[in-house]
Amino acid sequence: MGISFEGKVAIVTGAGNGLGRSHALALAERGAKVVVNDLGGARDGMGQSSEAAREVVRLIEERGGEAFAHGANVAKFDEVEEMVEQALEKWGRVDILINNAGILRDKSFAKMSVEDFQQVVDVHLMGTFNCTKAVWEIMRAQNYGRIVMTTSSSGMYGNFGQTNYGSAKMAVLGLMNTLVLEGIKNDIRVNALAPTASTRMTEDLMPEHVQKMLTPEAVTAGALTLCHDDAPNRMILCAGAGGYASTRIFETDGIYLPVDQQTPEQVWAHFDQINDTTQQEPLDSAVLQTEKFLTKAAAHLSAQK
Ligand code: NAI
Repeated sequence: MGISFEGKVAIVTGAGNGLGRSHALALAERGAKVVVNDLGGARDGMGQSSEAAREVVRLIEERGGEAFAHGANVAKFDEVEEMVEQALEKWGRVDILINNAGILRDKSFAKMSVEDFQQVVDVHLMGTFNCTKAVWEIMRAQNYGRIVMTTSSSGMYGNFGQTNYGSAKMAVLGLMNTLVLEGIKNDIRVNALAPTASTRMTEDLMPEHVQKMLTPEAVTAGALTLCHDDAPNRMILCAGAGGYASTRIFETDGIYLPVDQQTPEQVWAHFDQINDTTQQEPLDSAVLQTEKFLTKAAAHLSAQK
């Protein structure tokens, strides 16, 4: 059985171009009613236009689907709320939110202005917060929700010239990690997508033959697996050029140092053991780390008795 979105209502932000456009078309193709959000500005976030979003809606309707365009700036909560209200009025629910809208203002940190940093954080992090906040109560009330964060390898691994972008992209993973815990009892699942695709955001960074391999559709195939009924929870799915992988944060088992050895010199001397990956594992919540350390300390104390 294929993955269907029949009867589902989805909001895709930044869906006038690139990846968002591809996600919106694919969701509609598989039965979802789609809010095609796009502010329609340039790559650096300047200006605005409703043309691209309206064109995506036209394509969806031409193929027999249902959609409407909305020009909310995701960085503005009141505009996002208005968009969500419109979706509710029209279709009565919101099942899926793909937080995809984004801008770039690349500069080395030495040349990065406060405004360039702030604008990128406002769109990627605050935009993701605003949209998620605006649908959260709806999803809780209906005991169903699928939310996708769009992160980036630039945040997870670093990329020259992208301190603003990388910070914001890593921050949405922090948002995801806690939302996963808070959403579980209402079947709200939150996942993240780390894409690589040739779009206007990346078109000048790669030669043409490489761009041809990096299709938005290959990323969208992954995106849709994160927002259907049997979606995972807390997955960071990386997708590009037909390659799919997942990123996880692992923590090494670590060591315990007795009180009289809790010095910088001793910590330094044990770096090899601290970094030893043989027993590393991902942790499902922050308290597990504290529990692990306390268990080690308790084991040491009881061995001394
Ligand atoms: P794109 O520039 O083609 O599309 C982004 C869309 O977001 C545009 O249509 C733009 O008008 C819209 N947008 C920008 N600011 C907005 C705002 N304040 N409110 C509403 N809409 C707004 O870029 P692309 O490549 O499709 O990127 C989509 C997402 O994927 C972004 O979050 C980006 O950071 C992320 N990403 C893309 C990668 C790539 O290789 N293309 C790599 C890693 C992450």
